[in-house]
Amino acid sequence: MKKPLARTRNNRVAALDVGSSKICCFIAELEHGRVPKVVGIGQQASRGVKSGAVVDMEAAQSAILNAVHAAEQMAGEAVESVIVNLSGGLPLSFSMAVEVSIAGHEVGDADLRRALSRGFESESVTGETSRGRQLIHSIPTSYTIDGSSGIRDPRGMFGERLGVNMHLVTAGNGPVRNLSTCIERCHLDVGGFVVSPYASGLATLAPDESELGATLIDMGGGTTSIAVFLGGNVIFTDVMPVGGLHVTNDIARGLSTPIADAERMKTLFGHAMTVAADDREYIDVPQVGEDDGGTPHQVPRSLLVGIVQPRMEEILELVRSRVETSGFDKVAGRRVVLTGGASQLPGLRDLAALILDKQVRVGRPARIRGLAEATAGPAYAASAGLIAYAMTDDHDVEAPSLEEDRVKTPEPDGLVGRLGGWFREHF
Ligand SMILES: Nc1ncnc2c1ncn2[C@@H]1O[C@H](COP(=O)(O)OP(=O)(O)OP(=O)(O)O)[C@@H](O)[C@H]1O
Ligand SMILES: [Mg+2]
Repeated sequence: MKKPLARTRNNRVAALDVGSSKICCFIAELEHGRVPKVVGIGQQASRGVKSGAVVDMEAAQSAILNAVHAAEQMAGEAVESVIVNLSGGLPLSFSMAVEVSIAGHEVGDADLRRALSRGFESESVTGETSRGRQLIHSIPTSYTIDGSSGIRDPRGMFGERLGVNMHLVTAGNGPVRNLSTCIERCHLDVGGFVVSPYASGLATLAPDESELGATLIDMGGGTTSIAVFLGGNVIFTDVMPVGGLHVTNDIARGLSTPIADAERMKTLFGHAMTVAADDREYIDVPQVGEDDGGTPHQVPRSLLVGIVQPRMEEILELVRSRVETSGFDKVAGRRVVLTGGASQLPGLRDLAALILDKQVRVGRPARIRGLAEATAGPAYAASAGLIAYAMTDDHDVEAPSLEEDRVKTPEPDGLVGRLGGWFREHF
């Protein structure tokens, strides 16, 4: 059953980004016709989350509770429902095209409903649900009438056959359930799940980018996720369990230094590409297990960069191969927007441009007000995107490309019912 995202008395919504490095809650005020304004922010170092999935329910629950509580304190108002990003459960994205006969009459809501329900009844969807996965997104991306494509709203048009192209995202029931249980134990409702890179794209992509084609890459702590946008819609998403934390671990292992020092060295001296000057610059490396008084080793910066670069290359090559395999590489065009905390590594933009052979820019949350310097960076793209997503739930705002179902529990016969809900809400 579709659950509308509850708003507070003051017309506010809450977004919860459960990341592998940090858990972040944004509470934002939605005013008709205005850019949303963040009025409460709470952030906690993440616990109990690995590569985007909950691995320790109690730890995750207490971190979530603290983050939401801090945001509530700042906003001066309690929230009951949160919209949450999803990176765990191996989100799987697929496209589907279905056709129904309209026998020459004018296309109406009933025909759309029929076409979409045919999609939900198709083997590709029922196969997924029977494999223990549930539908997270079901986004009609475009319609066709008698083979003419690119129709955004076919209602009122005439033809013989109506087709709909859909983008569906499913995720494993277990990880979704673990995450929703953690949140519910904090006495919060899950207003909806949004697959993480989709949220990040909503926050960072310029309208023209998402219209003409762009690939969003969110490089976080434990995951790197991809979303391809075209025609104002998300048409492909993928999540890979590797990110900035792996770079930090490589440094800690490679230089025998504590994780905290490796993280500091990465952010202060790390670079994604080697330059000649790196050989002349030396950095202090405290040794793991030594007392504070021990003399740190000195290593050339090139050694550090020599650890960072191959891992970043590996991640970016993985991104390239996933996008190529998806078949959306060409339609995605040449634009890449890189975001997420790990995208701040100096030189990463150039390395990504080289490996992906595309034009790359670093994206931060746009079209949102009220963010301080510290929370306006790329690491907050997903949180801001969840708010952007919640905006599309506002029926006063025209955002026809982002309609969708939000699903909590798999009900084999519930898909069509949910579809009915989608129609009731949007038409
Ligand atoms: N200035 C910086 N340079 C390089 N890396 C950075 C910098 N600042 C943060 N990072 C890295 O960003 C990562 C955290 O990013 P982010 O906050 O987006 O992760 P997350 O959303 O919690 O995790 P995920 O989305 O993977 O579940 C960490 O690995 C951190 O080392
Ligand atoms: Mg993240």
